[in-house]
Formats: sequence, C-alpha cells, structure tokens
Amino acid sequence: MNSSEASIYSENRGIMEAGYRNYLHKHLAVKANDKVLDFGCGTGDLVYRLSKEAKLVIGFDISKEMIDVAKQKHQAANISYETADISNCLETHPNWKGEFSKIVSVYVLHWVKDKRQALQNVYNCLSKGGECFILCGGTMNQMRGHNDDELPYYLKNHIKWKRHLEGYENKYYPLTLEENTQLLKSVGFDDVKGHLHTPCEELDIFSKDELQGYVSTIIDQIKYVPEQYRSEMFEDASEWCFKNFPVNNRGNKYLRHDTLFLWAKKN
Ligand SMILES: C[S@@+](CC[C@H](N)C(=O)[O-])C[C@H]1O[C@@H](n2cnc3c(N)ncnc32)[C@H](O)[C@@H]1O
Repeated sequence: MNSSEASIYSENRGIMEAGYRNYLHKHLAVKANDKVLDFGCGTGDLVYRLSKEAKLVIGFDISKEMIDVAKQKHQAANISYETADISNCLETHPNWKGEFSKIVSVYVLHWVKDKRQALQNVYNCLSKGGECFILCGGTMNQMRGHNDDELPYYLKNHIKWKRHLEGYENKYYPLTLEENTQLLKSVGFDDVKGHLHTPCEELDIFSKDELQGYVSTIIDQIKYVPEQYRSEMFEDASEWCFKNFPVNNRGNKYLRHDTLFLWAKKN
C-alpha cells in the first residue's frame, strides 16, 4: 500500500463505519478510565471516536501509510499511533503486556493468517477483567471469499486474467464463528460470546461510485496484471460486483458477506 491508497481507503470505509455502528457500537461501552488498544486501526477513525470517552487510546496498524494518514487526520492528546503487527506486537512492544482494559478491532482479523498467535497477543495485552470486541469477516464475502460464486473465483477463471493470476494468493483467511470462538477459548479466555451477522443487507452501498471505491481498495489481484491492463481489470471487477451484488429492501446494493462479532473477557 502507498500513501495515496491509504488516503483513498479513508474515503471509502463506509462498510467499516456501518459495521461498527450496526454490530459493535451497542456492545462497546467505553469508560473514562479505560485504556483502549485498536489493532488494525487503519486511518484512525475509531481511535478518534473512542478517545473522546477513554483515558487513552493506542491505535496500531501493520501499514505505515495507514498510520501516517491516521496521524494527519485524527490526533488528540490521549491518542498515540504505532506501526505494528498483531501477530508479533508483544515482541515489538513488550510494554503493552497486561496494559489495556479494552481491545477493539474492526474488519482486520480475517487478514491475519496466524490467528492463534494474534488472539494470544490480544489476551496477553489485556489487563485482568479486560474485554476484547472484534468485528471480522466470515467465510462468505462476495468480494474476497473463496467460494465459486465470489469475485476472486470469477477473476481467477476469467479468460483475460487467469494467466496473470496463476501465482495469486487470496490473503483473505476467514474462519467460521465456531472456529473463532474455539480459538479464543484456547488462548485462555473462558468467557466468550459471538454472533454471526449475515448477509449484512443493512450495510447499504448508495451509488455506483461508492461501489467502485470499494473495488479500488480491495482488489489486490490488480498488482499481478501489467500496468496497461489494470484499468480494464478494474472495470471488469466493478461490473461483476454491480451485476452480482444483491439489492436490499431500501433499493440499495449491498455486499453479501458474513460479519462476525466476537467478545471475550479475561477473568
Ligand atoms: C479493512 S481495514 C480496517 C481498518 C480500520 N479498522 C477501519 O475500521 O477502517 C484492515 C486494516 O487491517 C490492517 N492489518 C492487516 N493485517 C494486520 C496485522 N497483522 N496487524 C495489524 N494490522 C493489520 C490493514 O493494514 C488495514 O489497515
């Protein structure tokens, strides 16, 4: 990711925002003495919001470009940002051990391959009595999933794109709700709850422009294609989404996908 991609991302995070509003907001009550960690904070939008209620908020992201945009857009005296990876953050930031009363994360965990290590780090970063609130994708996702009615399958088998995508690895690593809750228990949490939201028809996409905004931030297949064909692949992918995304009862398109809400407490 470069810095202009991070800026484009920050203008196209309506689904994250709606996911937070619909599925996480009602569970997450931040108190004035809370120390909060947001892993995979992206451009810092949630960090900023939580900083109005919490004592301090640390947001971190594996992408330096995301953190640069977060620092420009969302600063406050009780906020700090770091570039770090949830898979090894306690090696790079050992002072985070047992430090946080709340850990939040919105649409990140499905990008992490070694979820056991990531969730072990979440557990270890929490103080006693601390809670984590995680929203992440599940196995169905029309834009990123591994099913044969989803966009990656379409592109990988498309006559124009298949030879370019031979070495492509789809780095979307979803687990089911049961697999995630089992993992949370296996790293030490004994109080665990989860909920599967599907097909997420309440997360409206209001226009073709908005849909193209998502496509532009999400299709990493484009990097496998020579420069001169990229706009054509983008057009193909956008057209596929426009044709295949269902319409909800408000007449708006939505991305058919699973969102998992995971909650766990460290006793
Ligand atoms: C879909 S964005 C969500 C960003 C933000 N939570 C929001 O609501 O806008 C996913 C973010 O996860 C970050 N990410 C992916 N893998 C990560 C990892 N192993 N550790 C930390 N951040 C990671 C990406 O760089 C990206 O910013």
